[in-house]
Amino acid sequence: MEFIHILDTINNLSPYVQTTSRHPKQNMSLFLFFITLPILLSSATATTTTTTYPFDISYHIDCGGLTNSTDQFNTTWLSDRFFTAGSSAIVSEPLRFHSLPEKTLRFFPITSGKKNCYIIPNLPNGRYFVRTFTVYDNYDGKSHPPSFDVSVEGTFVFSWRSPWPETTSRDGAYSDIFTFVNDGEADVCFYSIATDPPVIASLELAQVDPSSYDSASVGDNQILVNYGRLTCGTNEWGPGFSNDVDLFGRLWQADLDFRSQNSAGFNALSTPKSISNTGQPPNYFPMKLYQQAVTLTRNGPLEYELPVDAKLDYLVWLHFAEIDSSVRAGQRVFDVFVNDMNVTRVDIYKQVGGFAAYTWHYTVKNLSSSVLSVKLMPVVGKPIISGLENYALVPADLSTVPEQVVAMRALKESLRVPDRMGWNGDPCAPTSWDAWEGVTCHPNKNESALVVFQIDLGSQGLKGYISDQISLLSNLVSLNLSSNSLGGTLPSGLGQQSLVRLDLSKNQLTGSIPENLASSNLQLVLLNDNLLEGRVPEELYSVGVHGGAIDLSDNKGLCGLAPLPECPLFWENGSLSRGGKIAIGLSSLFVFSVVVLVIYIFCIRRGRNDYDFGLPQDLMCKCDLMKLKSITAFAFLVLFPIYVSVWKCFIMPSFDLPYSF
Ligand SMILES: *[C@@H]1O[C@H](CO)[C@@H](O)[C@H](O)[C@H]1NC(C)=O
Ligand SMILES: *[C@@H]1O[C@H](CO)[C@@H](O)[C@H](O)[C@H]1NC(C)=O
Ligand SMILES: *[C@@H]1O[C@H](CO)[C@@H](O)[C@H](O)[C@H]1NC(C)=O
Ligand SMILES: *[C@@H]1O[C@H](CO)[C@@H](O)[C@H](O)[C@H]1NC(C)=O
Ligand SMILES: *[C@@H]1O[C@H](CO)[C@@H](O)[C@H](O)[C@H]1NC(C)=O
Ligand SMILES: *[C@@H]1O[C@H](CO)[C@@H](O)[C@H](O)[C@H]1NC(C)=O
Ligand SMILES: *[C@@H]1O[C@H](CO)[C@@H](O)[C@H](O)[C@H]1NC(C)=O
Repeated sequence: MEFIHILDTINNLSPYVQTTSRHPKQNMSLFLFFITLPILLSSATATTTTTTYPFDISYHIDCGGLTNSTDQFNTTWLSDRFFTAGSSAIVSEPLRFHSLPEKTLRFFPITSGKKNCYIIPNLPNGRYFVRTFTVYDNYDGKSHPPSFDVSVEGTFVFSWRSPWPETTSRDGAYSDIFTFVNDGEADVCFYSIATDPPVIASLELAQVDPSSYDSASVGDNQILVNYGRLTCGTNEWGPGFSNDVDLFGRLWQADLDFRSQNSAGFNALSTPKSISNTGQPPNYFPMKLYQQAVTLTRNGPLEYELPVDAKLDYLVWLHFAEIDSSVRAGQRVFDVFVNDMNVTRVDIYKQVGGFAAYTWHYTVKNLSSSVLSVKLMPVVGKPIISGLENYALVPADLSTVPEQVVAMRALKESLRVPDRMGWNGDPCAPTSWDAWEGVTCHPNKNESALVVFQIDLGSQGLKGYISDQISLLSNLVSLNLSSNSLGGTLPSGLGQQSLVRLDLSKNQLTGSIPENLASSNLQLVLLNDNLLEGRVPEELYSVGVHGGAIDLSDNKGLCGLAPLPECPLFWENGSLSRGGKIAIGLSSLFVFSVVVLVIYIFCIRRGRNDYDFGLPQDLMCKCDLMKLKSITAFAFLVLFPIYVSVWKCFIMPSFDLPYSF
């Protein structure tokens, strides 16, 4: 029934209204990040086909989509991939959406954990444009858009809070950012605020010129979050919206909604003429941007107002071109005021001549208002503008020390941490979110990175083992894996000096306690109710001596100091101890020597005394002597190999004897 209703209404809908049309409100950035392909479509009208564009890495992911597809602008969309969990769904009114990727979405129910990500692998380090399309459209029939946060590369960038504005909820919105990727993969993570599943309909990423947008002075530790990218005097355009090229995949929004005065006084201009200085590195601003402009029919200022979030720095880019062929130097001069501060005087023709692009940018520090205003005050003639961009400069958050990320991923694998715990993305970042469930993090000493401080996974039904990579967690103070079903042995990697509390009780850990598990800082060691055996390292007892607590009870066969049973003298780890082997070796050598000596004394020596000085001709004696000598030889030939075999088999199997025979 509902479907028929939709069919009835679609004709009334204008195509791209939904996307991009609104700006971030407070607490809500509607522009998500996404990647767009650089090499999209060849624009039929494009005057300048851009020469070779050197950045060719891009992904367009149709979240929730089951098949690869190509859209009407020849963008290839990949079926859904690179996600950590979640399920796919379809918007409730698919026919209202114009491209396939907008109709399907991925949502991350709470059973997938609080934090889920898309992790795009194998990316060369560099700068990337990331774009998302987010829509709710009551896909779940609950009429309740979710509240969630989004991070890119471990830095929190977007915040969605229920209730969403009606049009955003129904039509969706694009958001985008520029970020650096320095770890070979781009992660875009979603953090559920309440229990409603975060949603994402499409995700795009494209490599861009690393020096774009003045990154040399902005720095590579800033993420540029789009708070408005306007094209003046025209409709929105860009990849996915029109056939016009933008090599970065930037979407240019119509400026109409952001002009601060009555539009009656505005005059849109356009020219089919080619504009010089466009499509150039590092920003590759498209020519189309400069072929249109807005000026005034009246006297006075030309002003735009963009909604922003206070207390951030903003990077404002203004785009100009003199496209009125009658204007010459000195005939159109105006001052630019950003939030009522005079920041520059512009005479486009004087600076670059006619039909040439002129860009100018400015950074607003610590904006105190929730509106950013850009006012062009006429000095001579009427002001003109082609485009305007505004990016919040979001400092990259701290991220987890890379070795500790490796360790945590290894533990996730080895402990078989269930999906519901959301162990995805960076274990600790962004700092404004909780770390992975059960994990506590801190900044390191010089506050340059985050480190894992505590792991608390008691009673989580874990069935794996403890990876030896845990040794990389060099700041781990407390580890509680008690009351699970962990098997395997205690890794020797568990000997970090930082460790103070260790509770591995009530598992099925086997083997012995490694010698190095004796950090002088340990105050609590609970290894009771396991299957441990063998000698307990004596240093471990000092835990108790220093006022800490230690519990080794209910294991398979631990031994050592009281109250544990004494260790069998030569028995350790379920086999002969080194001492035992040496002792057996020495005693068999001793026995062997004694036997040889006895034979020598009682046979050979006596034979000599009794017979050697006797008559050699005495046959009887000779006979006895021969007998005794053969007994001795027999003793040698039989006992020595037995001795050697004992040595080789039991005592030092891995060592060759110093002599061979
Ligand atoms: C989609 O395309 C990618 C790469 O071009 C390919 O690896 C993948 O198998 C395709 N998926 C489907 C569902 O056809
Ligand atoms: C898309 O690509 C095909 C073949 O590559 C081409 O024939 C077609 O004109 C392209 N469409 C657009 C909109 O660029
Ligand atoms: C605005 O600043 C420019 C230089 O940045 C200066 O030339 C101009 O006179 C100033 N305009 C006003 C009205 O103060
Ligand atoms: C930003 O401005 C606010 C007041 O508007 C001030 O309290 C805050 O300290 C400033 N922050 C920085 C980093 O300058
Ligand atoms: C911070 O300390 C770590 C080691 O703890 C070191 O590798 C890093 O270089 C230090 N960073 C700064 C900025 O001092
Ligand atoms: C470890 O976790 C278990 C179960 O969550 C809890 O009962 C126990 O008290 C914890 N151990 C320590 C030392 O806090
Ligand atoms: C006993 O086992 C521990 C750990 O499994 C090992 O470190 C130690 O070397 C073993 N001792 C002997 C004598 O094999």
